[in-house]
Amino acid sequence: MARNDFPLSYEMTGELVSLFRQELQECNLQPGETVALMCDSRTNPHYPAAFMGAAQELGAHVFELRVPFFTSSTRRIVRAASDDVIPPRGPLEAMKAADLVIDMSTVGWLYTNVHNQILASGTRTLMVNNPPEVLRRLLPCKEIRERTRAGAAFLEKGTKLHLTSRAGTDLTFSKKGRKGIFQYGASDIPGRWDHWPSGQVACAPIEGSAEGVLVLDVGDIVLRVERYISEPIRCEFKSGKMVGIKGGGIDGYLIREYMNTWGDEKAFIPAHIGWGCEHRAIWIEQALPGPGGGMDAESFYGNILFGMGANYFVGLGGANVTPAHIDFCMRNCSFSVDGVAVLKDGEIVVDELK
Ligand SMILES: [Fe+2]
Repeated sequence: MARNDFPLSYEMTGELVSLFRQELQECNLQPGETVALMCDSRTNPHYPAAFMGAAQELGAHVFELRVPFFTSSTRRIVRAASDDVIPPRGPLEAMKAADLVIDMSTVGWLYTNVHNQILASGTRTLMVNNPPEVLRRLLPCKEIRERTRAGAAFLEKGTKLHLTSRAGTDLTFSKKGRKGIFQYGASDIPGRWDHWPSGQVACAPIEGSAEGVLVLDVGDIVLRVERYISEPIRCEFKSGKMVGIKGGGIDGYLIREYMNTWGDEKAFIPAHIGWGCEHRAIWIEQALPGPGGGMDAESFYGNILFGMGANYFVGLGGANVTPAHIDFCMRNCSFSVDGVAVLKDGEIVVDELK
């Protein structure tokens, strides 16, 4: 995604201050708290500037950290989850000392030891890297908070997950003992991570438990390679690993290449599965000119979000450590938890989760 696609006018910063102040209030930022602004050399420069002004308006202390974009693990396929994104001394201690970290970096470090250590210190972290128009449209709201909390509580109680679709998906997982997590786009509790914007629930299936077939259907979205699928792709799972990716023309080819290029078997292990709760998300956003950001696709109401690869993140409780991570966003799926249908053909069917 072209994160450096931003206007160079100074006025854009001014336009964002009010929006970012609202988001900091959603994060329960209090006067006297400290905010760390985490950036790299490809961060949209308007974002830290506007957050600095917004945090000061709310009476908080604020400072900025900037690290290089290129590290030994940075690849063309960005979003490598690697500990060397953050230098081993300095930024880690500074972020642990802050109350709230606004992560505007363009290389992912969600699934890293560094991030887990920061959260363990009680610091709350918020990822912000979507375009301004998406941030504005999907500001956190009460409805999404309630819907995602209810969904995560429902998911947390379950042990067996079953995903099906008319396109041919028939896939089971165990999540025994794993958490149900909610994302509503604000980090307002000590030790919490979130990504603005978000509206979704998820869990990390037990590694080794996935069995069956996943069919990505026409119109589904594969993030990282930024593709809407144009012909069905059949992915087979055995003993918890994806063992075959068949069909799909150029889309299937790109997914196979993405998975294989890491040279890591752990890329083929499911990372997370859950559903989207955001009624304001727009499916077509990712296809419009300019950076889409990906969160409309992930959070779309009734969508299944299925991630592969890294899930080593204290919030999820996953155990898979790898730099690889790719997300499949799928409509029209049916999903059940311990035999109780949550989604039918892409519609949420449990009244208290609607
Ligand atoms: Fe993911």
